[in-house]
Amino acid sequence: MAQVFDRSSNALARASLVLTGLIVVALGIALNQLQRSPWVTKQGQRPDQPIPFSHKHHVEGLGLQCQYCHTQVEKAAYAGIPPTKTCINCHAQIWTNADYLEPVRESWATGASIQWIRVHDLPDFVYFNHDIHVNKGIGCASCHGRVDEMPLMYQQNTLQMEWCLNCHRNPAANLRPTSEIYNMAWAGPSSDKPVWCASTGVAGPTAGSLSCTTDDPNKSAPELAMMQKSASSGSGQSGAQLQPHALTGEGQAMTSDVAPMHLLVPASYQKFTSQMELGKYLTAQYHIRTPNELSSCETCHR
Ligand code: HEC
Ligand code: HEC
Ligand code: HEC
Ligand code: HEC
Ligand code: HEC
Repeated sequence: MAQVFDRSSNALARASLVLTGLIVVALGIALNQLQRSPWVTKQGQRPDQPIPFSHKHHVEGLGLQCQYCHTQVEKAAYAGIPPTKTCINCHAQIWTNADYLEPVRESWATGASIQWIRVHDLPDFVYFNHDIHVNKGIGCASCHGRVDEMPLMYQQNTLQMEWCLNCHRNPAANLRPTSEIYNMAWAGPSSDKPVWCASTGVAGPTAGSLSCTTDDPNKSAPELAMMQKSASSGSGQSGAQLQPHALTGEGQAMTSDVAPMHLLVPASYQKFTSQMELGKYLTAQYHIRTPNELSSCETCHR
């Protein structure tokens, strides 16, 4: 009986099996790519907002701080979108007739809030909060990119689990002094641009107990160092009263019942010339949990 299938068809069958396998793999890769594609993650897209609000103009141009509009970012899970009143503070006088601003005027007149389209939106089963990140030394730009250079807002990163975990597995690479949180251009310390930090001696669970500066503290404040000398020799008090200023990062004396002559500068500044050195130091100072704890499922899925 003649063979129904000759040898060559056997080879054909094998080839088609291999081909099917390849197609399945290719499909898998394509789906995986699709799942990570900007089309799915919305990365980089600029949705049509009711008003073409420019962060570049308002932040870089006018020098407004993020907290001027996103008032809750240090205190709550949500950073918050400013109410129309915030815009009216200025736009009652500036650009009052611009067509662009018609929705602002209408919202102000009717009391109906402006319908901004969300750019960042995590699924509901993910727990996220701003305050812990901001208070533990993660800057806005680490997650949102150079907002000060965005004429229109877009999502810089994927916000996928992998992206979160990438930092949670190695937070030290991204930690900065909390005084630099709003600094869009922060690049970490280098040998050209060192950072000095000192504990203020004020115990606390958050990062307020640290004072960091990018100006050599030994050069910039000789008179303070003098005062420190006389004060530390004069009294037994060693707790420093210097708090980093929220906006400038510069040391700011707290008003307290301590007499002026007893104003103390942190005893010893430590100098850092690399991000990993600083990151390790801040990990300890800010009591950052271990990478294992930070990557456990319960951290983000509760
Ligand atoms: C003058 C007010 C104002 C200032 C100052 C401001 N923002 Fe905004 N921000 C807005 C408004 C209004 C929106 C909503 C419209 C939009 O998405 O562009 C917004 C949206 C955002 C969003 C996206 C929100 C979403 O829908 O996901 C981020 C992120 C953001 N701002 C970060 C910042 C950062 C970082 C700074 C400081 C560098 C800053 N903003 C300063 C008014 C402001
Ligand atoms: C501190 C004052 C101030 C606040 C607060 C403010 N603006 Fe403005 N805005 C300005 C000034 C000044 C200009 C003109 C900027 C320019 O032409 O460089 C401007 C320009 C604009 C423009 C014209 C396009 C552009 O970006 O140049 C729009 C639209 C606008 N603002 C929307 C808003 C909205 C919406 C809010 C509230 C979330 C807001 N502004 C809050 C001062 C302010
Ligand atoms: C660790 C990363 C991270 C940091 C740091 C961070 N953000 Fe966000 N931000 C996010 C994520 C993720 C969302 C989306 C949250 C959601 O969908 O629930 C978001 C959303 C926002 C929104 C939209 C409103 C809201 O709260 O959902 C604004 C405005 C915003 N961020 C501003 C800021 C500002 C200003 C800073 C710096 C002070 C900052 N963010 C720091 C990750 C971050
Ligand atoms: C650039 C670094 C970085 C990125 C990106 C980042 N995180 Fe974090 N996250 C941290 C640090 C640092 C802490 C604070 C750890 C500590 O205090 O032990 C933290 C803490 C947390 C906590 C603990 C909050 C609490 O109250 O216990 C949650 C939840 C969290 N992050 C969720 C997320 C999610 C979800 C994303 C992604 C959308 C994300 N993080 C992205 C650095 C990051
Ligand atoms: C640092 C925060 C974080 C941690 C830790 C984390 N996840 Fe997620 N997870 C996310 C975010 C953010 C998303 C949403 C991803 C998206 O929208 O694409 C997500 C999505 C998921 C999804 C939905 C499917 C998907 O990929 O979108 C599953 C399932 C999941 N996580 C399981 C886990 C498990 C299991 C663990 C522990 C091994 C874990 N996650 C730890 C942040 C986290």
